[in-house]
Amino acid sequence: MGFLSVLSFAHKLAGERLDAGGRAIDATVGTGADTLFLAKAAGPRGGVFGFDIQPAALGLAEDRLRLAREESPGALAPVTLLAQSHAAMLEAVPPDWRGTVSAVMFNLGYLPAADADKTIITETASTLAAMDAALALLRPGGIVTAVLYPGHSGGDAEAAAVEAWAASLAPQAAQSIIYRQLQRANAPYVVAVEKKGGRSSA
Ligand SMILES: C[S@@+](CC[C@H](N)C(=O)[O-])C[C@H]1O[C@@H](n2cnc3c(N)ncnc32)[C@H](O)[C@@H]1O
Repeated sequence: MGFLSVLSFAHKLAGERLDAGGRAIDATVGTGADTLFLAKAAGPRGGVFGFDIQPAALGLAEDRLRLAREESPGALAPVTLLAQSHAAMLEAVPPDWRGTVSAVMFNLGYLPAADADKTIITETASTLAAMDAALALLRPGGIVTAVLYPGHSGGDAEAAAVEAWAASLAPQAAQSIIYRQLQRANAPYVVAVEKKGGRSSA
């Protein structure tokens, strides 16, 4: 049967905590696969914000969301896509979102599209700032997931920094885990952080 892929594992962690009517953030929209996943899980009474610094990525995501809305009218949460760095998420989402968000998903690295500029990648400093912001936005029991890519240039240092950030959090405030294939050092892996105090953080 095999283990879940890193993307499926991240979806499982986020989906288990994001109920219909809930709030979620895609911190790295890219082609919008995670955005659509979150919008389906949150449903029409929920809400999703998405961030990407590349207008081309947001265009691909908008296309994906439009097709999904045509296929299943009324099934998705309202989605707000912002052409902004995820480092600004705390200021960019409505003030009443603070402490209420069920899931914030990061998928680091470059835009996975054929004609994408693969020199545009997530950067450690803004990634870590965004992760701090994400933690402030989470409700107790909510989760931050990050798919990390140590196999590309710059991705190894960023992955190590995210891992160190997650490991440094006070255990009373949050619980951090890692999901990683031990025999392939360059394979993508997941770090996830659950905020303490909720239904699933006993
Ligand atoms: C691996 S891709 C995301 C893949 C996406 N989940 C999908 O379904 O296609 C990473 C994305 O992060 C974006 N990105 C890079 N720096 C960013 C930043 N500071 N804030 C938000 N997005 C950023 C890139 O433009 C790229 O589209």
